[in-house]
This record gives sequence, C-alpha cells and structure tokens, in this order.
Amino acid sequence: MEIRRMRREDLTQAAALEEKCFGADAWSMQAFADALEDENALYLTCIVEEEGLIAYCGIWRSFEDGDITNVAVDERYRKKGFARLLLRELMQKSAASGVENFTLEVRESNLPAIRLYESLGFVTEGIRKNFYRNPNENALIMWKR
Ligand SMILES: CC(C)(COP(=O)(O)OP(=O)(O)OC[C@H]1O[C@@H](n2cnc3c(N)ncnc32)[C@H](O)[C@@H]1OP(=O)(O)O)[C@@H](O)C(=O)NCCC(=O)NCCS
Repeated sequence: MEIRRMRREDLTQAAALEEKCFGADAWSMQAFADALEDENALYLTCIVEEEGLIAYCGIWRSFEDGDITNVAVDERYRKKGFARLLLRELMQKSAASGVENFTLEVRESNLPAIRLYESLGFVTEGIRKNFYRNPNENALIMWKR
C-alpha cells in the first residue's frame, strides 16, 4: 500500500469511487482534474497493488485555514484505518505548509464519518440547515483548530 498525491492517471478511478459514494452530489472527473492543477488544493490517494486507487481525500487551502472537501474509501476497504491514515497525512502535509485550522462539512446522519473526524480531534461548531440535497439534510460544520 502506498499513499501518494493524486495524479491524472487516477482520475477515472477517483471519479468512479466518488460517484459510488455520493451519487447525484458526486464531483465530476473535471472537478478533480481542476483540483490537481490548483496550487491551493492537495489530494492524496491510497493505492494498493492489486486494485489501484482504493481511497482519496482532498483539502483546499485558504490562508491558514484548510477545507477538507472529499473523503472516500472503497466499501471493501472500510474500517481498516485507511481514512484515518490518509487524513493524518493530509493534515500533516498541510500543516507543514502553514495550515493551522481544518474544517469540513458532514451530513448529520453520517455517523461513520462523524466518528472518524472526532477521532482526529474535530469538534462540531455549527449546523448549516438543509445544506444537502438528495435527500435534504443538515450539515454539521466541524473544526480542528
Ligand atoms: C467515512 C469513511 C471515509 C470512513 O473510512 P474508513 O477507512 O472506513 O475509516 P477508518 O477505518 O479509518 O476509521 C477510523 C475511525 O472512524 C470511525 N468509523 C469508521 N467507520 C465507522 C462505522 N461504520 N461506524 C462507526 N464508526 C466508524 C471509527 O471511530 C474509526 O476508528 P476505530 O476503527 O478505531 O473505531 C468511509 O466510511 C466512506 O468512504 N464513507 C462513504 C463516503 C463518505 O461518507 N465520506 C465522508 C463524507 S463527509
């Protein structure tokens, strides 16, 4: 298993995993491609030999704040610590380039994700009413400062 930056050759697998996880709300392949070109974005992937990409996460930086926008792990590889490993690496790399605070939004019913973020030190600081569609749902706004 290798953790490395997302590359253009990963885009098809990343967009396919995104679609599986988020359906109608999924980012397009073009959105990932744009992220790879943007110096304020950092995308990391988990690559395993027999499968290729099995997980990714991404962050967009704005001065000392980093907004974690995408986190996804292939269903067959969940609950093995990949998301936590990837996010730790993402935050370490971001901190090394000056990010001090991390934030993200999560569906209030998404307990696996909320537990994951809490285990990394994130706390809920606010709620955005009806932030999500398909289905309508509130977002928790979490921060790790
Ligand atoms: C949320 C998600 C990224 C977690 O990935 P993962 O690799 O399975 O998570 P990890 O194995 O690193 O788990 C780390 C911690 O998260 C929590 N967690 C993960 N899955 C959980 C579950 N099904 N139920 C409860 N807690 C869970 C636990 O606290 C776990 O720590 P532990 O194993 O010591 O108990 C994964 O379920 C996923 O891709 N979901 C679909 C996409 C999604 O919802 N992304 C987040 C959008 S904001």
